[in-house]
Amino acid sequence: MCGIIGIVGCSPVADRLADSLKRLEYRGYDSAGIATLEASGAIARLRAEGKLVNLQALIDKAPPLGTVGIGHTRWATHGVPSERNAHPHATAQVAVVHNGIIENFRELREEMEGLGRHFESDTDTEVVAHLVSQAVEAGASPVDAVASVLPRLKGAFALALLFRGRDDILIGARRGSPLAIGYGKGEMFLGSDAMALAPFTSSVAYLEDGDWVVITHEGATIRDETGEVVARAVTRSNASALIVDKGNHRHFMAKEIHEQPEVVGHTLARYVDFTSGRIRLPADSDFSFAKVRRLVISACGTAYYAGLTAKYWFERYAGLPVDIDIASEFRYREAPLDPDDVSLFVSQSGETADTLAALRYCKAAGQKVAAVVNVMESTIARESDVVFPTLAGPEIGVASTKAFTCQLTALLCLAIAAGRQRGVLDDDGERSLVQALIEIPRIMAEALKVEHQIEGLAKSLSKVRHALYLGRGTNFPLALEGALKLKEISYIHAEGYAAGELKHGPIALIDETMPVIVIAPHDQIFEKTVSNMQEVAARGGRIILMTDTRGAGASGLEPAETIILPDMPAAIAPLAYAIPVQLLAYHTAVFIGTDVDQPRNLAKSVTVE
Ligand code: M6R
Repeated sequence: MCGIIGIVGCSPVADRLADSLKRLEYRGYDSAGIATLEASGAIARLRAEGKLVNLQALIDKAPPLGTVGIGHTRWATHGVPSERNAHPHATAQVAVVHNGIIENFRELREEMEGLGRHFESDTDTEVVAHLVSQAVEAGASPVDAVASVLPRLKGAFALALLFRGRDDILIGARRGSPLAIGYGKGEMFLGSDAMALAPFTSSVAYLEDGDWVVITHEGATIRDETGEVVARAVTRSNASALIVDKGNHRHFMAKEIHEQPEVVGHTLARYVDFTSGRIRLPADSDFSFAKVRRLVISACGTAYYAGLTAKYWFERYAGLPVDIDIASEFRYREAPLDPDDVSLFVSQSGETADTLAALRYCKAAGQKVAAVVNVMESTIARESDVVFPTLAGPEIGVASTKAFTCQLTALLCLAIAAGRQRGVLDDDGERSLVQALIEIPRIMAEALKVEHQIEGLAKSLSKVRHALYLGRGTNFPLALEGALKLKEISYIHAEGYAAGELKHGPIALIDETMPVIVIAPHDQIFEKTVSNMQEVAARGGRIILMTDTRGAGASGLEPAETIILPDMPAAIAPLAYAIPVQLLAYHTAVFIGTDVDQPRNLAKSVTVE
């Protein structure tokens, strides 16, 4: 979602602000802008709708010379994407950039308008500029003005503020949405994440909820919500070391799909002792599932589908009952929680607002809270009692691919560990599952070889308006994931169903125009899925079957297309079958010509409810 950067610098900052915004592009945005100070001390803004090249063109045309500034990529919540609604929002006294939502902006805006203040945008953000301005105009210092305004704001947000005539300070605030401080040499930075700060520094401190900070050339003064000066640990971020280019690929998504054998291998190495063939949970976790009565999993989007797959694994391999819910539903459905249960949250970014809120809900109920996260510096990682990392590296494409398979990897390892701890799996049971896991990077590399065939298939899929995905068991969540992938990057309407549900409604959709993608490795329930395929075939549906050699031979059907993956143990099938599912969505979107890495309306990290 919205990205924030702020620099108190010693040389002109405009290009550096733009450079940092480029790194935040992956979060999703529809407009961008910067504010710096002119030589006179006046606030000067450059804002543009659309991609960053539009903003860069404005910067190049008349390069601002200010040495302090703030920048922003906006993902619209209040008000359409337009230059007028792009951040920074400003008065003569103050400019502000904002991530999140000011829930009570209407009443505050009415109050400000009642005082004769004129608003120029439809955003909730602008009210912050006016409130702070009002206080400054009444004689308050920038620090006192912000201190008086913050308690009046309701909602979840991160803010960075720039003040007229003050090239020596910026003020940042965090409530709900993350904000980090970057420590440089004689220069200081604010950023919505470590990626934004990576070009400038690797010394980073994260504000805690309710904190606000004044940064100057010399350092940072952090206060908590009571106004007490507090210290927050400065850590070394490895974001600058992370490679964030497309390599030889046309899109980040393609690169990330192809990286999966490698990053799944890295993740495995954190959970598996290759010598003994046993699971070894990450060193710092003495967490045990032995006495857990029930596991409660919550997540959003693709991470939710990873969690749903894990439900099958925890129940099958560990005899551990699992409740799973979409985080935005879970947090409001007033689920009775037992303090003896454990809750598990799954998130790539570790910043998803609904997942974080669900986590806090479980924590407040006294539950032990565990998380599977990719960004270890994230809020979810920091607020969890125990963190299980995925080692996917930075995922830039908005459509989650490698984070998903790394989540599956970590979750399967956790389910196996739980099986041992609970006495459901014996030595042999654990070893055979671990052996299957060890083979997964190789099998995923094999699975990538179907890309050429999928490219051909994607050409015809790019012409349809609707598609169905079917799967059973652990391939049911993958059917949901396949439909989500196709929808989000190709804008083709798609639905995922448990294959057995077909005849309870969706079969009415089947005719010769409906492609039905069936994910069906030759496992114990293969025959059941074949019956469902027959139901589709009888109604003229166009079946695209993803299976293995045995499945292709045993189906007795002639699908329009069969994609054959290597034989593999059922436990690891969702990891390998994710590859053709992702490739199909990717190549279909490429044929259609959509913005694959930054699809319309979507944000990488969804930090509002
Ligand atoms: O960062 P998270 O894993 O918490 O994000 C959850 C979802 O927003 C995310 O998986 C989303 O559904 C992706 N666009 C899917 O490709």
